[in-house]
Amino acid sequence: MTTTPTLKVNFCGVEFPNPFCLSSSPVSNTYDMCARAFDLGWGGVVYKTVGPDYDVKITHPSPRLNALHRGIDRVIGLQNVEQISDRPTKDNFEDIARLKKNYPKNVVVSSIMGLTHANDWAVLARQAQEAGADLIECNFSCPQMTVEGTGHKVGQDAAIIEKLTSITKGACSIPVMPKMTPNVADMLPVALAAKAGGADAISAINTVKAITGVDLEELVPLPNVAGKSSTSGYSGSSCKPIALRFISDMARDQRLGLPLSGMGGIYTWIDAVEFMLLGATTLQVTTAILQHGYRIVQDMAEGLLDYLADHGHRSPHDIIGKALKNVVDPSELSHQTQAVSQIDHDKCVGCGQCYLTCRDGAAQAITMNEQRKPVVDEDACFGCLMCKHICPVDGCISYKIVPHHLL
Ligand SMILES: Cc1cc2nc3c(=O)[nH]c(=O)nc-3n(C[C@H](O)[C@H](O)[C@H](O)COP(=O)(O)O)c2cc1C
Repeated sequence: MTTTPTLKVNFCGVEFPNPFCLSSSPVSNTYDMCARAFDLGWGGVVYKTVGPDYDVKITHPSPRLNALHRGIDRVIGLQNVEQISDRPTKDNFEDIARLKKNYPKNVVVSSIMGLTHANDWAVLARQAQEAGADLIECNFSCPQMTVEGTGHKVGQDAAIIEKLTSITKGACSIPVMPKMTPNVADMLPVALAAKAGGADAISAINTVKAITGVDLEELVPLPNVAGKSSTSGYSGSSCKPIALRFISDMARDQRLGLPLSGMGGIYTWIDAVEFMLLGATTLQVTTAILQHGYRIVQDMAEGLLDYLADHGHRSPHDIIGKALKNVVDPSELSHQTQAVSQIDHDKCVGCGQCYLTCRDGAAQAITMNEQRKPVVDEDACFGCLMCKHICPVDGCISYKIVPHHLL
């Protein structure tokens, strides 16, 4: 008899009904929004970052967003210039308390950011704990904060991270999870500094510093905020490869050994499983929700359950980190074998895309025959598989593995 797997996960001692969480952003801005997300099946929320309201009034540049379009895909990535919550601190913590009271089985993470004093972190940590938050996420990573001494510059400095993590930890007894910026060459030094400061877990990634476009007539990069723009945070599906890289870098390093909360371009259950296989225990989402609404969690949960059941697993914990042993240094990759493209003429529509890419970007191994079907010269093909990647027909181009031509 097979038993249905559970989706429950234990993340640094906190029980999540499932690993899917709203990440800290406009999708988790108020009680009503988070309550609706819980009702639709999200396991946890990381509430929009709260700062102290005795220092500076938070306002946002406008327009706040610019989307990167490609063909019919309206949002392959999203650039934002949003700041942390502009709501009064007291209102935010009251919302967190009400969420915990009405949804005791769901997890509420309070994201905090000190503004002008190191002690802000301690004050906010105490307020978060008093409100009933299960965990604290330290936002060390927003790339467009306008208050000096905040945001991703903090997240690039190991000494400051260690100090602020330790101040936060010292002020509360709930687990503390620093959130890392991808705007570093290597996340390990800052993640290890967070561990040295007492971190119980790490979350990553916040947004990538970017410019998504330029208005060709106004000569202003986008989003155009009263005639100017700036490099700011980029998120969404095109960030997933960067996020997976940082999650796997941290999960592979024996010295860190902390549970990871992964985010950056998670849209589907497949994305979710990929993050878990590379070491993430919980998963956070913003841009996919901005595009498709909270309901996407139902597909993600169902897909993850099916994947676990199909592979004989009983819990997400059975798959966490299971692909890590197959991530190696480029110098360790085999040069003994290679791929050779195979084209199924029954499926081919004769568009010639494979011929074009092979002629102009690869081995000139594909010719078109008299029936306008591509033919591969197997001795010339060097197995880049660009033809397979560009082919518009699923399953039309596959490949076989042969001894390397150059051996
Ligand atoms: C409009 C917007 C506002 C955001 N605000 C915050 C924030 O207040 N605090 C924070 O830690 N991250 C913030 N983020 C970053 C997200 O939580 C998340 O790290 C990032 O968007 C990558 O995930 P995604 O690709 O699923 O969006 C924001 C992202 C967006 C798009």
